[in-house]
Formats: sequence, C-alpha cells, structure tokens
Amino acid sequence: MEHQVKIGLFGFGCVGQGLYDVLSQSRGFRTTIKRIVVKDPSKKRSLPASMFAYDKNEILNDPEINLVVELIDNAKDAYEIVSTALRNGKNVVSANKKMIAENFEELVRLQHEFGTSLLYEASSCGSIPILRNLEEYYDNELLRAVSGIFNGSSNYILTKVQNEHLDYATALRQAQELGFAESDPTLDVEGFDAKYKLVIITGHTFGVFARPEDVLNLGIGNLAVGDVEFAQSRGKRIRLVANTFQLDDQRISLFVTPRLVAKDDQLYNVNNEYNAVILEAAFSDKQLFVGKGAGGHPTGSAVLSDISANAYHYRYEYKKYHQQARFTYSTEIELEVYLRSNDPVLFDEIGFTSISERGINYVSGVNYVIGTIGLKDLIRHRERINASGSFLAATGEVIVLDGSRKERKQLSESVGI
Ligand SMILES: NC(=O)c1ccc[n+]([C@@H]2O[C@H](COP(=O)([O-])OP(=O)(O)OC[C@H]3O[C@@H](n4cnc5c(N)ncnc54)[C@H](OP(=O)(O)O)[C@@H]3O)[C@@H](O)[C@H]2O)c1
Repeated sequence: MEHQVKIGLFGFGCVGQGLYDVLSQSRGFRTTIKRIVVKDPSKKRSLPASMFAYDKNEILNDPEINLVVELIDNAKDAYEIVSTALRNGKNVVSANKKMIAENFEELVRLQHEFGTSLLYEASSCGSIPILRNLEEYYDNELLRAVSGIFNGSSNYILTKVQNEHLDYATALRQAQELGFAESDPTLDVEGFDAKYKLVIITGHTFGVFARPEDVLNLGIGNLAVGDVEFAQSRGKRIRLVANTFQLDDQRISLFVTPRLVAKDDQLYNVNNEYNAVILEAAFSDKQLFVGKGAGGHPTGSAVLSDISANAYHYRYEYKKYHQQARFTYSTEIELEVYLRSNDPVLFDEIGFTSISERGINYVSGVNYVIGTIGLKDLIRHRERINASGSFLAATGEVIVLDGSRKERKQLSESVGI
C-alpha cells in the first residue's frame, strides 16, 4: 500500500532542480518536499528561501521526514548523509554513483541491519531503468554480460568530435554548459563515472561487489584527431564502453575503455548524451536499452520512479548476491587494443603478449600498435598511459585465460536487432 511520503532533499543543482520540476508536473503521485538542504547560502534560488536550510540535521533529525533524497555532488558528504539516514530508520533515494560504488557492500549491510532501503536507479545510466530490471525482471535469468555506453558527457564529446568535427575543448565546454558533465569533468572523460556505474550494475547482474580501485578505467582525455582519423579509416567510431561479463561458471570480469566500434555495432549510432545498455542472457538472448543518460529531467525522472517505488515499500533484495553460486572478479584475461603513443618505451614495457600490426598514424605522425595485453598489465600501467598522453582503445576481442588454455571471445558482436 502507498504511504504518505515526506521528503527531505539534499542538493538543488542540475538533478535536484530537475526532480523538483518532474515532481511538480507528475500526475497522480502526491508527495511533499518538506526541506531542501544545500551548501551555499549566498546562491540565488528559484524557490522561496524558507524551503532551504544549510544544516544536514534539519533533515536527518526531523521525525516527520520519512524519505531522504540525496542529490549532492560530493561523495564523502553524501556517504555521511546516506549512512546516517539509513541508521536513523529513514529510507533513502540517491543518484550518487561514486558514493554507492565506493561503499557498496557497506551500504547493503546497513540496509539489512537497520531494515531500511536505499534505491539508486538514477545513479546508473540516467533514465534507463536498468537496476530494477536486473533485480526483478531478470532475477532468474542466466545473465552472461552487460555492456554499453554508460556516460552521457563523454559520449556527447565523442559525438561532437567525430560527427561534427568540433575540437575536444569546445565539446567538453558544451557538455558542461548543458549540465551533462560532473562538477569534476575528469570523472566523466577518464572513465571513472562509467566505472562506478559498472560496479553497481555488476553487483545487480552477478552479485559481485568489486572495489572501484581494482577495476580498469581508461578514458578519452588523451583522444587526438589522429585517433579519430584512424578509427574512420577502418570504418569505425570510438565509443567509451563499460563491460561486465561472465568468463566461466565461477568468474566474471569488468573494465571500462574506449572501444573501436564497427558500423553494424548497436553502439555506433548512439549519439550525444544518450546511453545504451546491451544485456546478454542465456534465454532472452540480447536486448538493447537506449535512453538519456544525463541531464536534470531524465535523471529526475529516474529519481521520481524510485520515490514512487519507495512509496510502495519496494527495496532491492540483491538477489544475485544471495544466490548459491557466487562469482568472483577475475583479471585473467587479455584485451586486444589499439595503442597510440609517442613514448616508444611504453610499447616495449607495457607487456604486449602478441602484436598484429605496427604503424605510424599519418595525421599525427606518432606510432601505434595493435596487439593483446593482459588486463593486469593495463591496470598496472594505467597512470603511465594517461600521463604520457597515449590513447588506448579496445577492439572488442578478449582472450580468456584458464591455466594454459586460451579462449577468444568477441565483446563487440552486433546485437542483430
Ligand atoms: N547531472 C547529471 O546529469 C547527473 C546524472 C546522473 C546522476 N547524477 C548525480 O547526481 C548528483 C547531483 O549532480 P548534479 O549534476 O545535480 O550536481 P550539481 O548541479 O553540481 O549540484 C550539486 C548540489 O549539491 C549541493 N551540495 C554539495 N555539497 C553539499 C553538502 N555537503 N550538503 C548539502 N548540499 C550540498 C550543492 O549546493 P549549492 O547549490 O549550495 O552549491 C548543489 O545544490 C551527483 O551525485 C551526480 O553524480 C547527475
């Protein structure tokens, strides 16, 4: 049965304001925002000053508020707010992927211990309803892989650079002006944001709570015109792709890197701030979800859905985590990659296990190599790749290692829809 929801809202930025608009226009679902706590008392607001407060306890200690909606841009403060609320018996809705991914197991434990609920559909791929689907619709499916474009801001930049030949800095500025970029844009362009979402999605797909610091993320921060030209010369586009997939009955793996995608790949035409999630399962086969992954209203819409689900006492059961057969996160794979660098020593030291092509990029004049590298080596050399201005893109082919056995797997097959 629906119960009366009294909301305490943290944050009134892009998503907070978006949620307010969405709530004001939603029909049939009535809820009250009792208090909004923000940070900066000198900022001009679009609502009366009496709605706002600057002390978190005005929400956390108010017995009338039964739902905390956390939409702030600071993961550390957000963890304090969310964990205190859960301990105080208040249910929480959050969009904060960094905070959730970094404290995932602890937040699951707190919900269990205090009988409270934390919902976070908006944290992963904006308006695409992926988490509740993974939990409920696919609760007994044998999920094999989830992959896709999980970051709207970097996809917007890649679209503008590749389709409209805008320079990188202008495209990034536009993404920021449109509210798609995180307050710290390195979270978007270096693949951190996509990685946090991937960690959350992996928890609901395979029941594995991987620690973000153990997972590879390479981004588009070093993308050069020459890389775009290289991709185009092969009939491909560069997309920032997150992958989580089953290696065998015991192991899964996950990583975020740019990927060279072919014309028949479903991700090739996913443009601007749109996100796409490709789900592969034993019985339902492949499914593609596409939707806006950033922006106040699309994200506000996902938050509204969680507020509504909370009113009906919905909570995540973490079904995959509680299933008998547990997976573990493995880095025992090799990735086929395109690596462009003007640091010749990097090619020798990064640990290619095989090389199929060496060349000089005809636009930039710098060298590239196509070959396979162990995921462990990529994790180890991540900082060096970034610091040397090098750019890496996966081809979509991975080699699964099982003792001395090697099995090739294609992550970039066309979905065929
Ligand atoms: N933007 C998107 O498209 C999008 C999409 C999905 C998820 N998200 C997530 O949604 C959250 C909010 O993002 P946003 O884009 O709305 O950020 P934003 O526009 O930068 O707004 C952040 C808000 O948080 C408030 N704030 C910061 N620290 C605070 C604290 N300690 N206590 C109270 N309020 C605090 C700020 O207060 P002041 O107004 O006083 O500065 C501001 O209102 C983030 O976790 C983000 O990752 C965003």
